[in-house]
Amino acid sequence: MPSNQQILLDNRPEGEATTSNFKLVTTDTPALQDGQVLVRHHYLSLDPYMRGRMNDSKSYAQPQPLGEVMIGGTVGEVVESRHPKFAVGDKVVGMGGWQQYSVVDANQPGAVRKVDTTHVPLSHYLGAVGMPGVTAWYGLVKIINPKAGETMVVSAAAGAVGSAFGALAKARGCRVVGIAGGKDKCDYVVNELGFDACVDYKEHKDAISLSKALKQACPKGIDGYFENVGGMVLDAVLLRMNAFGRIAVCGMIAGYNGQPLPLANPALILVSRLKVEGFIVSEHMEIWPEALKELGTLVGTGKLRPRESVAQGLAAAPEAFLGLLKGKNFGKQLVKLI
Ligand SMILES: NC(=O)c1ccc[n+]([C@@H]2O[C@H](COP(=O)([O-])OP(=O)(O)OC[C@H]3O[C@@H](n4cnc5c(N)ncnc54)[C@H](OP(=O)(O)O)[C@@H]3O)[C@@H](O)[C@H]2O)c1
Repeated sequence: MPSNQQILLDNRPEGEATTSNFKLVTTDTPALQDGQVLVRHHYLSLDPYMRGRMNDSKSYAQPQPLGEVMIGGTVGEVVESRHPKFAVGDKVVGMGGWQQYSVVDANQPGAVRKVDTTHVPLSHYLGAVGMPGVTAWYGLVKIINPKAGETMVVSAAAGAVGSAFGALAKARGCRVVGIAGGKDKCDYVVNELGFDACVDYKEHKDAISLSKALKQACPKGIDGYFENVGGMVLDAVLLRMNAFGRIAVCGMIAGYNGQPLPLANPALILVSRLKVEGFIVSEHMEIWPEALKELGTLVGTGKLRPRESVAQGLAAAPEAFLGLLKGKNFGKQLVKLI
């Protein structure tokens, strides 16, 4: 059995996470038992939710245990199988974690799933045609429920979830406006992802100034907002929401280091009669097949052309992860392992 490089959570961050919270080790992969497969990971997914798991605090999920391999989505190839439904060479997606190989009990529901790489590259199953894409789909379709002609806004628009949201909302005939950090990202959002406009929040020092820019980009107001960030961005959007608007609360990355994100004027929820609903995509497994089908078609037909930021080698994962939390990624952040 091959030796296996792994990254463990060594200690918990206080405030901002650092590379010293992680530890790189090498272990042997154990011999396979009946029903198990050995997967060699090609790509590891880095996702903002991992920051929350590093804390030992109350959340929707258990904290990442210390001294264990960091949790994470992976795509790869079966290199040994003791399960009748999996053969050597099968391409699979799973939750293999921050390591080169994983031994997976293939009988466990949802542990490992075969994917078809004929029309969709393997790495996209961690992004647009994976968890981030389904997240965008759930918030748009099940919470915002858009009508053609309405205006949709998404923050962190150049990222994995935001870029998928844009394509899904365009496919439903909406005006789609992004919010992103910096001119390069905003140009990408409009010119490559096909959004109607994008506002650079870094050009604005407060919510009033940002809301004025949103007014220009959304002349008919905002009917649906997909929230990834929180703080000033949410305050600015609330000022532009139309009556009976819907807000899908997906993430609040501006507060992931533990700082409070106060809401300047919650009365706007009442004044504009808004629906505000948070969600966790893994609690809605029933919609994944329908969402993945639509996302696969959008990618296969070139209507969604997601960009990827790819770090090389497992040892680069901590630095790339910290970069993701600071917006250094452009699209889906991955680590290429072979
Ligand atoms: N609820 C769920 O089930 C679920 C599932 C998946 C993801 N999520 C959430 O969805 C959001 C996007 O995830 P993703 O995987 O697509 O990540 P991503 O957008 O690819 O990367 C994160 C982006 O967040 C932005 N950001 C970071 N710090 C910020 C700050 N202080 N203020 C404003 N923007 C900031 C950066 O973009 P800029 O450079 O543009 O600032 C960064 O590139 C995250 O909040 C994540 O937690 C939730």
